[in-house]
Amino acid sequence: MKSIALLVYAAPICLAMKVAVTGTTGRLGREAVQILSSKGIQTRCLLRHPIDASVSPSIEKDASSSEVASYLANLPHVTMVEGDATDPTSCRLLVEGCDAVLALHGPARPPPLQSLFRLLPETDPKHSRSVNYLAVKNLIDAARECDCKRIVRVTGKGEAPTQVFTVLINMLGHMAKAWNYEGEQLLRTSGVDYTIVRPGVMGRDDVPTGGRVLALADNGRDLPVTAVTHSQIAGLCVDCLDYPNTSRSTLTAMNVASGTGEDSYAPLLAGVKSDTRSFPTTLLSEHKKAAQIGAAVLVAFAAVILTGFAAMTKAIGGLVVGLLS
Ligand SMILES: NC(=O)c1ccc[n+]([C@@H]2O[C@H](COP(=O)([O-])OP(=O)(O)OC[C@H]3O[C@@H](n4cnc5c(N)ncnc54)[C@H](OP(=O)(O)O)[C@@H]3O)[C@@H](O)[C@H]2O)c1
Repeated sequence: MKSIALLVYAAPICLAMKVAVTGTTGRLGREAVQILSSKGIQTRCLLRHPIDASVSPSIEKDASSSEVASYLANLPHVTMVEGDATDPTSCRLLVEGCDAVLALHGPARPPPLQSLFRLLPETDPKHSRSVNYLAVKNLIDAARECDCKRIVRVTGKGEAPTQVFTVLINMLGHMAKAWNYEGEQLLRTSGVDYTIVRPGVMGRDDVPTGGRVLALADNGRDLPVTAVTHSQIAGLCVDCLDYPNTSRSTLTAMNVASGTGEDSYAPLLAGVKSDTRSFPTTLLSEHKKAAQIGAAVLVAFAAVILTGFAAMTKAIGGLVVGLLS
């Protein structure tokens, strides 16, 4: 049965596609654009800032957004559209005439105190609600209007609001996990053929090596969190376009111990099934509650440390004064 599935889905149907990409200057998006370009696929990139002719193109790890943009703009089959995913008109301009969207954008990490004390309103374009939720809504609306059938969106694990890592990201990142999940929910009810990819931690050095490390779980099932590379996940997003059976699916993508996974995503993608379980619908309030409790604990902890430090400083000061007098 598996070999039949492989035969059916091995043909690279996405070669004929025109693909729109958001988050193209990001670490994930730039990898995806390079893969699409190298495959000869017409690629349209959303870019937040105009190309600066005085900037030297660069794709080095520490390159700035404008250096990366200049580099990508010079790749074959790549065109740029200036705009912001939080703006519906930009999304329409991006998606028009495209067969698929890779939604790889994500919010910049805010100053921790700004998020902890909720100093940025949810309506601000930089807030995670705008970037992880409203921008996804804009892309769905644009896809519907432009008859674009397919959206691949990268989010992350986020169905356990009280998990420590999730609480921390929500507390310090304007509820990024919560809004990513709400964006997923929009896709699941959109009627558009979506694939949601929930990757492990990208950009860490401890990625399992040694071969046969790739693993996927469909139906939003859980896998233990591990390090994955941006290029693995970018490749996975592009590969999804070749597998119609991945539409309406939620995939968790992790690496596993060497020899226990696969060397390529092809056999894993061939076996993917559409979502069948019901995903929870009340997570936003649970995420917010968990983050509020987390913030209260953090502030109380900081107050205890500061009070202890002040008492210790006072005691040492008294001791020094006593010794000197
Ligand atoms: N890093 C991880 O471990 C991890 C794990 C799971 C999931 N994810 C998710 O994966 C996605 C991409 O990750 P990454 O590491 O590539 O992030 P990144 O390097 O921070 O890139 C973010 C990209 O999103 C763009 N962007 C931000 N706001 C935008 C807006 N309003 N409109 C259009 N584009 C916008 C940025 O553009 P500028 O260059 O103009 O700022 C940049 O190109 C994010 O959604 C993230 O939440 C990441």
